[in-house]
Amino acid sequence: MTYKIAIIGGTGRQGRGLAYRWAQVGHEILIGSRKVESALAAVEELRERLNGEGKLSGMTNAEAVEAGDIAVLTVPFEHMRSTLEELKDLLQGKLLINVCVPLVPPKVTRVQMPPEGSGALMAQTILGDNARVVDAFQNVSFEHLLSGEAIDTDVLVAGYDKAARELVIKLSEDIGIKAWDAGVIQNTMVVEGLTSILIGLNIQHKVPSSGIRITGINE
Ligand SMILES: NC(=O)c1ccc[n+]([C@@H]2O[C@H](COP(=O)([O-])OP(=O)(O)OC[C@H]3O[C@@H](n4cnc5c(N)ncnc54)[C@H](OP(=O)(O)O)[C@@H]3O)[C@@H](O)[C@H]2O)c1
Repeated sequence: MTYKIAIIGGTGRQGRGLAYRWAQVGHEILIGSRKVESALAAVEELRERLNGEGKLSGMTNAEAVEAGDIAVLTVPFEHMRSTLEELKDLLQGKLLINVCVPLVPPKVTRVQMPPEGSGALMAQTILGDNARVVDAFQNVSFEHLLSGEAIDTDVLVAGYDKAARELVIKLSEDIGIKAWDAGVIQNTMVVEGLTSILIGLNIQHKVPSSGIRITGINE
């Protein structure tokens, strides 16, 4: 099954990375931006990467959310609250995949959650119970996504309810990334916090992007 995936802030690094991977496997991508021209430029760049293949279009964030089956949030954490407040009405009844990590420069290797407990909890509080917020892809770097090569990490998926998490796990597995059901939305503080620990490991070991693996489970 393929979906219309709206990427809010889809012109950025992580948004384009996810767009590239999902477009490669047949999902329809709606690149959202604050400016239509930026969205169209990102679509152009992605079309080149995809050698003309794939269904992609560019529009405002609001138009993308309205037209999409699923929305994905990839804006810098400091603009997450204002972006969600602006799109709140359009996100009612939708699944929102939050990819944002509450990194607070300059101490990005320190886990620093917002008062709500995590970015996903903040999003769920802003949007209310009628939107379905699920965390995923916080520990996948844009370099890996845009490289087109196999991605050597698992991802943890936590949030709203089991059905929403299962759909996000499927979207992750569509692009070859093993995903695990990490449970309820309260667990998103661990999912998001992991990124600061991985950034610290990248610095210590002088690597661009370390990842994680869940072991001990035979499926
Ligand atoms: N980069 C990674 O490898 C990575 C990995 C995991 C998670 N993440 C998370 O993904 C999110 C995006 O990261 P990124 O590296 O893709 O960021 P980015 O490239 O710096 O920015 C993404 C997009 O956010 C939009 N934006 C910028 N300022 C904004 C504002 N004031 N209001 C609304 N939108 C604004 C811009 O789109 P327009 O100008 O077109 O509107 C921009 O292209 C972050 O929360 C990050 O923690 C990133």
